[in-house]
Amino acid sequence: MQIPCTPREMDLFESVAGAARQIGVPCYLIGGFVRDKLLGRPTKDMDIVCVGDGITLAHKVAATLDPALKVNYFKTYGTAQIRYKDLEIEFVGARKESYSRESRNPEVMPGTLEDDQLRRDFTINALAISLNKADYGSLLDPFNGLQDLQDKLIRTPLEPGATFSDDPLRMMRAIRFASQLNFSIVPETFQAIADHAERIKIISQERITDELNKILLSPKPSVGLDLLYKSGLLKIIFPQMIDLVGVEMQEGKGHKDNFYHTLQVVDNIARHTKDLWLRWSALLHDIGKPATKRFEEGHGWTFHGHDAVGGKMVPRIFARLKLPQHAEMRQVRKLVELHLRPISLTKENITDSAIRRLLFDAGEDLEALMLLCEADITSKNRAKVKRYLENFELVRERLKEVEESDRIRNWQPPITGELIMEVFGLKPGRIVGDLKNTIREAILDGIIPNNYEAAYQYMLDKAKELNLTPVK
Ligand code: CTP
Repeated sequence: MQIPCTPREMDLFESVAGAARQIGVPCYLIGGFVRDKLLGRPTKDMDIVCVGDGITLAHKVAATLDPALKVNYFKTYGTAQIRYKDLEIEFVGARKESYSRESRNPEVMPGTLEDDQLRRDFTINALAISLNKADYGSLLDPFNGLQDLQDKLIRTPLEPGATFSDDPLRMMRAIRFASQLNFSIVPETFQAIADHAERIKIISQERITDELNKILLSPKPSVGLDLLYKSGLLKIIFPQMIDLVGVEMQEGKGHKDNFYHTLQVVDNIARHTKDLWLRWSALLHDIGKPATKRFEEGHGWTFHGHDAVGGKMVPRIFARLKLPQHAEMRQVRKLVELHLRPISLTKENITDSAIRRLLFDAGEDLEALMLLCEADITSKNRAKVKRYLENFELVRERLKEVEESDRIRNWQPPITGELIMEVFGLKPGRIVGDLKNTIREAILDGIIPNNYEAAYQYMLDKAKELNLTPVK
């Protein structure tokens, strides 16, 4: 076997090979499994291609392994899947394909192994390993995929325009693989992506977003994001990001390029967390800047309110990209809204109340917020970076102290609206909300201690000012 495999995988290959021999169809391991094994990456998805009917082979293999094993199959596509232990095995008959221009639905005809390899997306994904008696275990590599794997290159087996026009999702896949594997896309292939970028519009949003998420989850997401920008794909799939590009000059003053700053922030956060939503919050943290950009004479460029404006943009962006609309979106929105708060605290104003407010507003997302803020420091001025980081340490220490003494995080104010209504015989209304907020603010500002008795007394005092009297 020309790829490193576990004994369990070897046993499985023997079973597949045995089943294929019995029904008389040649079969091969192909695609991502071969690629990832050669790269030493963990993989659990195995693709088997046979010169014959993939569904029949899947049933035969399942019967050999365990007669109770379920085979999922799709007659129209001629594909079948088996879940065996922790492996997902997919079977397909070798085919020639051509796609209609309007959709991704291929017209499929049976073909040879080489036809099948030729219709695959990249040379590194077209590598096959024989499971046949004559050359069991040998690598079949008609398009020099192994060489491209060693040279870290993404290249299409066919003329690239044909490969991308057949299935435009492959343009996203090329960039995603470049980002995941730190490979380069050969110039001819990259040019074809730029030429066919518009074709991405026939792909469903879910598939595009799936690739975008994989780019964001890659070790250095800026690789993929920059390629998306340079190929023209980003402009089509995520135009708000393009508004961040560029530097404007007035009175000899320029601002930083917010697109490349954002990419650096995403890379910074990627070094500290694999959490997709934290990476999304890094990607979107300055998304409100283009809308709030002003030039103030004698002062320079400002982006006042870009945190709040950016936060408001998050729900629409998530809806358009078909990202989750609930907890994940709310977390990203909150982080975008709060991303300036820790950094705006300076030695002079790290008061207990400022810290309490930050604890209260960030709640369970405090650690995530601190990570985002640290990632946001991209200045090239070392003294400035040092100053920011020191200040940050101070903010962290104070957060810890105040949290230990006040327990504000995940805190619910001790006086509820229901209690206010009960004590003063009120119906729900603005006055109840105002009174409740006044008490909460007094606690956060440190005017009264954070306990029920003090809050109750404060409620009575404030109510008196409003001419309210308790009914009991
Ligand atoms: N493939 C293709 N064009 C696509 C999708 C897939 O040619 N749009 C081929 C490639 O040969 C690929 C194989 O089908 O290797 C399996 O596809 P898939 O499981 O989606 O991708 P992997 O390459 O295995 O990688 P990943 O699991 O990371 O998506």
